[in-house]
Amino acid sequence: MQKRIALIYGTTEGQTRKIAEHVAQALRKAGADVALMHAAELPLDWTPANSDAIVVAASVHQAQVQPYVRDFVERHADDLNAMPTALVLVSLNAALGEMADVPPPEYAKALRDQTGWSPTVVEHAAGALRYTEYNWLKRMVMRKIAGDQGMSTDTSRDVEFTDWEALDRFAKAFHDVLRTA
Ligand SMILES: Cc1cc2nc3c(=O)[nH]c(=O)nc-3n(C[C@H](O)[C@H](O)[C@H](O)COP(=O)(O)O)c2cc1C
Repeated sequence: MQKRIALIYGTTEGQTRKIAEHVAQALRKAGADVALMHAAELPLDWTPANSDAIVVAASVHQAQVQPYVRDFVERHADDLNAMPTALVLVSLNAALGEMADVPPPEYAKALRDQTGWSPTVVEHAAGALRYTEYNWLKRMVMRKIAGDQGMSTDTSRDVEFTDWEALDRFAKAFHDVLRTA
């Protein structure tokens, strides 16, 4: 039977929307029926009960995911803990691997501690530096952070670190687990 997956996302500058759309397509290609929705725009009567699995995608800003994603997860933590779930956590530090000042699993742990939700799978995805879309202050802050980490400080260009093939592998593996569960 076709698996129904709700993919709920939060984004601040748009990279996680792009990632969520990509993962939704990959899950559909694997055979799933996917509903892609912004966490802040869910219908009031939305419930996890209408899905076989939930994927939550969010990005890290100052070590936290979007507050509305955190609220969504907290509200549904009991249901989420009782079904197959995945967290796609988007950050810059995911691009740095061992070199990151804060290892991305720390961000996932913070969300778990705040909400009580333990995702079945966590996929850490590298995000992007969208210099051309930041306001002046954000551009300066991100340029400093990027420079400290050895990343591009050329603010005339955006840089995308996302590994799209890794996301394809994640989507396929998650769907395979659902099919065989
Ligand atoms: C103001 C700001 C703060 C950020 N803080 C962090 C952080 O604490 N750790 C991290 O790994 N990445 C951090 N990032 C990088 C974002 O996670 C990355 O740019 C991601 O692609 C944003 O996704 P979004 O466009 O979906 O919001 C930050 C980015 C901005 C603009």
